[in-house]
Amino acid sequence: MDYPTTLVEAVSQKVHGHNLEGFLSGQGPKHAPLMLIGEAPGATEIKTSIPFSGRSGKKLDSWLAEAGLERKEIYITSAVRSRPFTIKKQLNKRTRIIETKYPNRTPTKNEVVSFAPLLDYEIKTIQPKILVPMGNVGLQRLLGHSYRISAYHGKLLHLPILTYAKEKNQLVASSDLYTLFPIYHPAAVFYNQKLEAIIQHDWLLLAKIIKKNRQNN
Ligand code: URA
Repeated sequence: MDYPTTLVEAVSQKVHGHNLEGFLSGQGPKHAPLMLIGEAPGATEIKTSIPFSGRSGKKLDSWLAEAGLERKEIYITSAVRSRPFTIKKQLNKRTRIIETKYPNRTPTKNEVVSFAPLLDYEIKTIQPKILVPMGNVGLQRLLGHSYRISAYHGKLLHLPILTYAKEKNQLVASSDLYTLFPIYHPAAVFYNQKLEAIIQHDWLLLAKIIKKNRQNN
């Protein structure tokens, strides 16, 4: 995605001084029927410049393949376009040297709002038939903090979404309705193996919905 320079510059200014690394654009065909919205790129994605190219991406690819979906028909982005990190000093037990590490962290609410104009632009440009927020960060970016992925995954929703209002400097509900199908973030299985079957089931269900949509159009 080529974002307007003015939008990217405004975002950079807002997050200046935050612990954020690099910038990864959303990727996929124009007018892709599906838009996947993750949380933020990780270290692998910043290195490769390919969304979901790390450990989570391998899980995602396996569910897409099982559901008969191909990356080339999907637009992939996330709520935040840089890698949020923390700074940790830790003792290397072998060398006894204190090392500095920069692990990933969840983006803050402020960072999600700061990057919001870029996701708004992507949605407006691609006009996907179905928005697929993966995990709580993507879901709450679109629908607000009263929504939890555990309650809404695998459900087809028709709702207004939150978009950035410059004059209020906050997210406000759109007047248009959008179709959404929330799914757990692929990394959720690394913390809870039992989610594997649930996520797999949701991807199969989504593939069925897309096929049905295609037959009707
Ligand atoms: N998590 C995300 O949300 N996006 C990526 O690209 C990788 C991990």
